[in-house]
Amino acid sequence: MHNELLADAARRASEYLDSVAERRVWPDADAVAGLAAAGGPLPYEPADPMEVLAQLDRIGTPATVSTQGGRYFGFVTGSTQPAALAANWMVSAWDQNAAMRVMSPAAAAFEDIALEWLRDALGLPSGIAGAVVTGATMANFTGLAAARHALLERAGWDVENDGLFGAPPLTVVVGEEVHVSLVKALGMLGLGRRRVVRVPVDGQGRMRADALPPLDSRTIVCIQAGNVNTGAFDPAAEICRAAQEAGAWVHVDGAFGLFAAMSPQYRHLTGPFAAADSWACDGHKWPNVGYDCGLAFVRDPQALRATMAMVAAYLPEGAKREPCHYTPEMSRRARGVELWAVLRGMGRRGMAELIERTCGHARRFADGLRAEGFEVLNDVVINQVLVSFGSAERTMEVMARVQQAGVCWCGETKWQGRVAMRISVSSWVTTAEDVEASLASIVRAAHLK
Ligand SMILES: Cc1ncc(COP(=O)(O)O)c(C=O)c1O
Repeated sequence: MHNELLADAARRASEYLDSVAERRVWPDADAVAGLAAAGGPLPYEPADPMEVLAQLDRIGTPATVSTQGGRYFGFVTGSTQPAALAANWMVSAWDQNAAMRVMSPAAAAFEDIALEWLRDALGLPSGIAGAVVTGATMANFTGLAAARHALLERAGWDVENDGLFGAPPLTVVVGEEVHVSLVKALGMLGLGRRRVVRVPVDGQGRMRADALPPLDSRTIVCIQAGNVNTGAFDPAAEICRAAQEAGAWVHVDGAFGLFAAMSPQYRHLTGPFAAADSWACDGHKWPNVGYDCGLAFVRDPQALRATMAMVAAYLPEGAKREPCHYTPEMSRRARGVELWAVLRGMGRRGMAELIERTCGHARRFADGLRAEGFEVLNDVVINQVLVSFGSAERTMEVMARVQQAGVCWCGETKWQGRVAMRISVSSWVTTAEDVEASLASIVRAAHLK
């Protein structure tokens, strides 16, 4: 049975990938409306898995967003690399629970290796702890949980056992351009979304080191490697120095920007972030691992273990690292295997090429738009471009036309009071031809009266 079913799934998936370049980048309204056909009351009778798959393909495929093509520039969205897709199928067939070594020695081993390879590729210090989680939101949560533990432990408080009620207060410092997901993580940790001290930023969204408040050993400073709008990097060297002198903790949200380290050409941007205490990033963004894959690293393994470990008679301690003692989750998909497959597939050269190629495409977008007389609002330091077509209304109108044309997809943002269209080049699939076709579509939309 499974032979026929999996062969059918592989055939349908291959056909999908073969057609992706010709598909609209965002589905049309009929296809989206057609999703309702998947609903209705929960059927009483079981269905044949072949029929379930056929239904999924019939209803779901037309309504997909073509992020597997090379002309999707929304959010910070890559495509899934072939090695990751194949590894994902393999892992699903294995059905491994990556919580503990005894549940899956294979999942634990691939995860260990992938984390170590990635740590090295990102230029982070050796001997640090790593965790594979679902995304940068949870990676931020994980790093900040370790920070909360370490700073309160130093103050003589056991936060895991006694909670935050009556605890010595912690101060959390963020830049004005902090990503909302980090603020959400602070809320989930009881550190408060609104309690943060916000530091002013410069015109690129970089935290101003000269405007830092006084720091002490009960302060967590959250800095960014790669602003979601501009791609800008906070001045990590100055901030980490000030934090170290004060005994403060520095956490890095490097969701995508930290991966600039994979290219010798861009590594100078991320180098100073290695002095921090914890780091969060996303395999599903720039490395194109596919969803979902977040990574957290913590300099002091004990700080992470102390906040995430569980003790129960039936949970073996083990001499080796047990994944679930370093992650918020217990049962987990073996997503470290896909990360391993991507890193093994790319090698150092492939990693560098991916970063350099996508940054080159972003520069071409910026140059092409400027040449047509449009204003690029950011310094294009990595793969992010912000463009204005004039007034807020005009920019929104052009963007709606671009989306409607369906050649490419770019989203909106507000950058320091101005409405802009965001172009994020994050996919390994994007070619120079994709960029030219997309530029032409954008320019056409922008010149229409
Ligand atoms: C800088 C930054 N931090 C955090 C996130 C949240 O990542 P995720 O959606 O993987 O949780 C993003 C997403 O774009 C981001 O750009």
